[in-house]
Amino acid sequence: MDYKVKDIKLADEGDRLIEWAEQHMPVLMSIRRDFEKSKPLRGVRIAACLHVTKETAVLIKTLKAGGAKIALTGSNPLSTNDAVAASLAKHGIHVFAWRENHDKYYWCIEEALKIKPHITMDDGGDLITTIHTKHTELLKNVVGGTEETTTGVHRQRAMEKNGILKYPVVAVNDAMTKFLFDNRYGTGQSTIDGILRATSLLLAGKKFVVAGYGWCGRGLAMRARGMGAHVIVTEVDEIRALEAAMDGFEVMRMRDAAKIGDIFVTVTGDKHVIDGRVMEKMKDGAIVANSGHFDNEIDVEWLEKNSKGKREVRKSVVEYRLKDGRKIYLLAEGRLVNLAAAEGHSPEVMDMSFANQALSVKWLIEMKGKLENKVYVVPDKIDREIARRKLKSMGIKIDRLTKEQKEYLRGWKEGT
Ligand code: ADE
Repeated sequence: MDYKVKDIKLADEGDRLIEWAEQHMPVLMSIRRDFEKSKPLRGVRIAACLHVTKETAVLIKTLKAGGAKIALTGSNPLSTNDAVAASLAKHGIHVFAWRENHDKYYWCIEEALKIKPHITMDDGGDLITTIHTKHTELLKNVVGGTEETTTGVHRQRAMEKNGILKYPVVAVNDAMTKFLFDNRYGTGQSTIDGILRATSLLLAGKKFVVAGYGWCGRGLAMRARGMGAHVIVTEVDEIRALEAAMDGFEVMRMRDAAKIGDIFVTVTGDKHVIDGRVMEKMKDGAIVANSGHFDNEIDVEWLEKNSKGKREVRKSVVEYRLKDGRKIYLLAEGRLVNLAAAEGHSPEVMDMSFANQALSVKWLIEMKGKLENKVYVVPDKIDREIARRKLKSMGIKIDRLTKEQKEYLRGWKEGT
């Protein structure tokens, strides 16, 4: 069996979703046209563990256009779009993904790894971890890997530091044309989108607590403010806390925010940011959601243990009735609310993120045998090429330095 999806009959619906994304991903489509001509990935086998969305499909079809053979599995049990998965399966991709595959999540990863990849493409690091722990026999084939998200890059840097990383990995997340746009504007908008689709509530006038002021937190706080919410930021890093304060947000400890917040969103990359002690202080009716990669930022187990009962009140909204009678509403099981309750980031930002993925894979193949078992940043040349192509697609022209200006910047004598 070379794919397993929910229902292959959904393929036509998936085709239309993918076409829509393609129209809004001009950079990746220009790379596809280049790949169609030069076939830089001829004979390359890729295992990808990504959120199976319409945007991911545009990437996968681009890699295929470059000559690659691809197996795809989802990087979260709630983020797969079944129509998209069906469409990709119809187009010859080995897809092992369906929405709500909780108990088969790792089975799907195992199936995808049967392709014996030259390249692994991760969003969160599950493929790399599985290969390094359970399938070391696959290491001999692997040329390199790419990583899409902050959480995954943290893990691979930890592996490198401990001397156990067995192949080079490109931290796609750390490209400027990725994190400055995807993490900030992508997460900012899609998290709000997920909360609104799940709850249909008004943000204006709400006390909206953002836990974490990294690039995702910055984007989310900015967009929540734009919707009229009163935004409170919680942080552990003194510089980021200061930045949030000077960006005009109220900054306080989570235990203080707990008492006044209406909506809480975690975007920290760490575990139990909202734990029992925090939830014990929350107001009746508080809404909690997570937009970080893993579902451990909110201590859902505590909610389960300390509730008299729970019920799904709307799709993606579960009401927990605590023993003291208060109700807490958990969105999307505490999994990525932007992907589980909405469609993830918009195609316009995924255009750049996935352009980085496509060109990083090409670079890894070109550099085969020349790299160490380290985490690499995306070469600046690639990053800037993507920015240039994106600007061009937006019809934006920018200035160039004159010869005189270049000389001035190189010199040091000219002064007051
Ligand atoms: N991560 C966040 N949004 C995404 C999307 N639309 N597709 C794939 N991965 C994503």
